[in-house]
Amino acid sequence: MVIVAAAASACGPSLIVDPGDSELGLEAPVFVVTGRDMAPAVEERLGPRDDGGGSRVLDVENERAILLLREPELQALSQLFHQKLHRCGGFTSHSSLASARAAIADEAEGAIAVRAPAPPELAEPEVVGQLIPLVDPAQILGTISGLSSFPTRFYQSSDGVAAAEWLRDQWAQLAAARPGAVAELRPHAGWAQPSVTLTIPGDELPDEVVVVGGHLDSINIFGGEIAPGADDDASGVATATEIARLIVTQNIRLRRTVIFMGYAAEEVGLRGSDEIARDFADRGVQVTGVLHFDMTNFDGSPFDIVLITDNTDPAQTDFLATLAGTYIPEFPVSTDACGYACSDHASWTRAGFPSALPFEATLDTYNPNIHSEGDTLEV
Ligand code: BES
Ligand code: ZN
Repeated sequence: MVIVAAAASACGPSLIVDPGDSELGLEAPVFVVTGRDMAPAVEERLGPRDDGGGSRVLDVENERAILLLREPELQALSQLFHQKLHRCGGFTSHSSLASARAAIADEAEGAIAVRAPAPPELAEPEVVGQLIPLVDPAQILGTISGLSSFPTRFYQSSDGVAAAEWLRDQWAQLAAARPGAVAELRPHAGWAQPSVTLTIPGDELPDEVVVVGGHLDSINIFGGEIAPGADDDASGVATATEIARLIVTQNIRLRRTVIFMGYAAEEVGLRGSDEIARDFADRGVQVTGVLHFDMTNFDGSPFDIVLITDNTDPAQTDFLATLAGTYIPEFPVSTDACGYACSDHASWTRAGFPSALPFEATLDTYNPNIHSEGDTLEV
């Protein structure tokens, strides 16, 4: 891999890597959906298709383009987007053309229009009041430390698989303390790293599901091998894990089934969550709400919680603001927008489920070390 230029971006400095020497071979095809205006830059950066099939653009619809890539090119694509758009993201990847087309159709239809029923009134003030003082920073830091101790959690690496197994083992310890609960690996067809789930069944409405998650993979967009991903997103997984720990240790009864999720392969196009959310939609699972944590542990702005307003459900987002204002009024809350499908909450929104994303800071004050060797717990 040859580094040909360096540029600053909103995701920390990004190095642009010449894809010319990446060995494409006949790696698995990936169908990337992005704005049609980005297609020429992608073709220019990655060069022609390796199968002699001509243009990488397979289809254009609703100002969106579907491009054909190979798995190993995703890292270079991520670098290109950082350089071109001076911000993170702006694409999603899919393992089939049909799934890419479905993503465009969902966007056009505005899957976001599928709304949650009005969120409940604050129904459990005693329980919440009892739990808040029990939130244990040392537990959260312990999970971040455990995950970020793997050299990388890149979705195709053996370390990325080992980290998923480590998380499954942590969650299995919680499951062991709760009758009916189960921690599992959820394998994906196209890459090595599985997602991880911890299911705690509900007592009254077990068929209704609340999803709480973060992404377990990490990436180093410099092309280096070390990607601790302490903030992005060991912090989010740790936050979800602390919620699960409190439910189990305090023997909190749940009305609905809660499934905790550590998603694989977020950093290469929301791939783990995309597969899972579509699968839930296909099976008709009634997901009543999705709470997603991606980057929770960097003190970048005066606002402690910034609620993301795009690709999320307004009613759920308002509900989080009400919860924060009621139970933790000493923590300032604000709102901001990513401007693109910046994390796994967007996969759920696309699949027609209401989601919310409480974030660590505003979009101009978040952790500048993400996606690099420097995303450590110390920072
Ligand atoms: N945690 C980031 C998303 C993020 C970064 C949100 C900065 C807000 C501020 C996430 O892990 C990520 O890097 N997402 C990708 C997009 C994805 C589709 C590849 C990104 O933003 O580049
Ligand atoms: Zn990231």
